[in-house]
Amino acid sequence: MPEDKPLWREEFSVSKADERYVSRRQLTKFLTLSSVGMFAGNLWILGKSWLRKTKTYQRTAVARAGEIPVGGVKLFQYPEQGEQCIMVRTAEDSYVAYSQKCTHLSCAVLYSREQNRLECPCHQGYFSILDGSVLQGPPTRRLPRVVLERSGDDLIAVRMDPEA
Ligand code: FES
Repeated sequence: MPEDKPLWREEFSVSKADERYVSRRQLTKFLTLSSVGMFAGNLWILGKSWLRKTKTYQRTAVARAGEIPVGGVKLFQYPEQGEQCIMVRTAEDSYVAYSQKCTHLSCAVLYSREQNRLECPCHQGYFSILDGSVLQGPPTRRLPRVVLERSGDDLIAVRMDPEA
């Protein structure tokens, strides 16, 4: 057994000069790993926002032409179950559809045939039937529109505008 050397010196036999080197190396390792972690995190956030922007919508048949009388309404769910939308047949061959969720505080908007607009009963927010823009009331954003296509007698919902 070596003379007067404490036990810990034997178990951690690193000289003073090397200790500094080791701690610098550990710091460098820590900084490198932290940088790699932050880089990976940023990549993940970027990828997630990119996926959100490129959201795909199912083409969904939501009504049959002629099923709704002129001035009539049909409720349906799009793009997901539970996301209520309202379709209005505004003329013989014209259909429009919007999210039924008011952009103020999410009450359900209703169609007023007399006023030919969508009305929110909660705070009297009114929306244009032509493009969903705000006509009156506290909402500041227009209603998201359901883009429709016609395929034979089917009315197909293809996406939301603006995208949800
Ligand atoms: S929730 Fe529709 S106007 Fe307030």
